[in-house]
Amino acid sequence: MLTSTLLLLGASLGSVVASPLRRRQAPSQTPVVTDATYDGQCYYPKPDEDDFELDEYVGRWYQVAGTVAPFTAGCKCIFAEYSLNANGTVRVFNGCELDGQEITIEGTATAVNEDLGYGEDGVFRVQFPGQPEPECPGPNYIVQDIEQDDDDDDDDDDDDDDSNDGNFAIVQASNFSTLFLLSRQQNPPSSQIDAWLERARLLGTNMTDVIRIDQTNCQFT
Ligand SMILES: *[C@@H]1O[C@H](CO)[C@@H](O)[C@H](O)[C@H]1NC(C)=O
Ligand SMILES: *[C@@H]1O[C@H](CO)[C@@H](O)[C@H](O)[C@H]1NC(C)=O
Ligand SMILES: *[C@@H]1O[C@H](CO)[C@@H](O)[C@H](O)[C@H]1NC(C)=O
Repeated sequence: MLTSTLLLLGASLGSVVASPLRRRQAPSQTPVVTDATYDGQCYYPKPDEDDFELDEYVGRWYQVAGTVAPFTAGCKCIFAEYSLNANGTVRVFNGCELDGQEITIEGTATAVNEDLGYGEDGVFRVQFPGQPEPECPGPNYIVQDIEQDDDDDDDDDDDDDDSNDGNFAIVQASNFSTLFLLSRQQNPPSSQIDAWLERARLLGTNMTDVIRIDQTNCQFT
């Protein structure tokens, strides 16, 4: 059985790299305490199950910030595109630009059954072909916080109209090991990215290795 635990995610809250325009305040000594699920092996963030809707989540997202990860090292213009497979899984199409070349990878995200106790919605196991199974038994892709503006069921795509701070998603991995800050807009205002990074920090992300992802002068997106 899963237990719900309060996870103390240390006091070392470093600054966000690659944001030279604004100096962050000195690291706070106040620890961040956030709710998590523990299955005896790994810790998992709680998903934003009230707001997550798979039908609305599909489509293209741009990664505007995140934890430095080996699989995206050196990449700019990182994007993720989600669509529904006929068998109920989600097709994951990721791409980025590295040294002027486009790199893409395709995988499958499978929703984790809510009966397993990791959350009702917004919890997935993402698997890419030829890569080892995730080490943790639970989800490796958890949507911790999401806000989308266009939830009126109007059909007109008024993409230029999103002036408030919606259209972001905070995605974390098992053990809070990798943050993906996703945005519907490729280059949202910097202040919005900062605000969402602060939400990610309060939700348990270790900010030490979090960087902004360059989404300018993209050749392929
Ligand atoms: C945050 O990450 C850094 C770098 O990986 C590590 O040195 C530090 O111990 C981590 N802090 C916490 C509270 O886990
Ligand atoms: C996740 O964290 C737990 C507890 O610290 C640790 O025992 C486990 O090895 C970690 N798993 C992975 C895959 O990092
Ligand atoms: C579901 O369909 C996708 C795309 O065709 C496929 O890659 C995946 O293996 C299928 N998964 C299952 C559990 O059938």
